[in-house]
Formats: sequence, C-alpha cells, structure tokens
Amino acid sequence: MSLPVLNTYESVAANEVKVWFKAAPISKFPKNGGACIKYKDKQIAVFNFTREGTWYACQNLCPHKMEMVLSRGMIGEENMEAKVACPLHKNTFSLKTGENLNGSLDAIATYPVKIESDFVYVGFSE
Ligand code: FES
Repeated sequence: MSLPVLNTYESVAANEVKVWFKAAPISKFPKNGGACIKYKDKQIAVFNFTREGTWYACQNLCPHKMEMVLSRGMIGEENMEAKVACPLHKNTFSLKTGENLNGSLDAIATYPVKIESDFVYVGFSE
C-alpha cells in the first residue's frame, strides 16, 4: 500500500531566498522545455524558456491528481504570462504566480531561478 502524496510545496519569493541550490549546468535543460531536479525531498520542475530568455521553477507535483509530471509539460504564454500545461490532463498554471489558469485547482509553488557561470540555481527558503 502506498502512502498518499501530500502537496507540501510552498512558493519562495525572491526576497525570501536563503539557499541558492546549484542544480545543474544550463546544457542539461532542453530549450523551451523542462527538467526535474531534486532538492531535499522535493521534486522541482525547472524550465528553460528560451523564447522569452527566462527561467522558471515550480513544484513538479501537479495538484490535480498529485502526479510528479509538470517538468514534462508544455510551456507557452497566455496574456503575456508564462505558463505550463500538465502533460496528463492539460490543466495550466502560471509559472510566475502558480495560479491555475483554466480551473480552480490549488496554485502550484514557484521558486526563483538564477544563472551564474552557465549553472542553474534555484532559490529556497530553507
Ligand atoms: S494530473 Fe495534472 S492535470 Fe491531471
């Protein structure tokens, strides 16, 4: 019997970062796509949005069916806002605010990203 997955992710604002986690070299992330990294017990989806020249990070857990899938989602824009569509049932989430853009699911947690010397860092508050 497996334990239920809980959504324990919490967004981190830029001014709340206490740890910049060195995730991986830029080359490990597909252009206009995502990859999953692990920080402590959390799976984090990191997106290299080259069309925008921006990076985003959010929880990998989709709050719809509690599946670890968001890093494999398609990214795009809606009303000038970057979003990710879950690959399973296409619920979409803002990559800036985490808000569910096409429904009333819980927001996903988002995290700051910075690039230094060709490495991707994700910001965490603990
Ligand atoms: S599991 Fe993500 S939309 Fe259903």
